[in-house]
Amino acid sequence: MARQIAIALLICSLVAMASSIPIDVDCTRRQDFNVVKDCCAYPTFRFDQFKSQCGKYMPVGAPRISPCLYECIFNATNTVVNGAINPDNARLMLEKLFGNQDFEEVYFNGLMGCSDSVQEMLSNRRPRPQGKTEQCSPFAIFYGFCAQRYVFNHCPSSSWSGTESCEMARLQNMNCAKPSRGSSRRLL
Ligand SMILES: *[C@@H]1O[C@H](CO)[C@@H](O)[C@H](O)[C@H]1NC(C)=O
Repeated sequence: MARQIAIALLICSLVAMASSIPIDVDCTRRQDFNVVKDCCAYPTFRFDQFKSQCGKYMPVGAPRISPCLYECIFNATNTVVNGAINPDNARLMLEKLFGNQDFEEVYFNGLMGCSDSVQEMLSNRRPRPQGKTEQCSPFAIFYGFCAQRYVFNHCPSSSWSGTESCEMARLQNMNCAKPSRGSSRRLL
């Protein structure tokens, strides 16, 4: 009797498990920023750690994320050496920026795997308006975007909200090509 109950429970939980794994990922569904922004409880970026070198790129009251700020922080920490991420220096930068070991590790893994994606972003840039020369290269902030996406997909479970919309967004990120030029090429 007990054995039958156990087997029935096992079957029930397998059925429940199978039905909670979406078999099809809808790659055309748009992600709602207001929903996905709360999926991973990102740590605070402690930009003030770089105030002495990069304070001029941190205007009070303005959004602090800019190509120059990222470039300045990468410069100050020698995170890029000869066009590639230097692992030791990147770790030091992340320690200063976050002071949160779980996230430092995930951001580090993200940065180390981002060079292809950054090259792609650089080559997909729209041409700049004539006469307007960029003050800073987007190289560093593209690393930031790529790493942020990686961290979303690999958010430490204690910081992941795990709602259905969040899980769906993560499945989309992992299984669907980025929306570019209307293609929907599958990555896997
Ligand atoms: C970062 O370093 C590069 C190379 O030395 C320099 O051209 C660039 O202006 C620096 N960027 C910032 C924001 O300080």
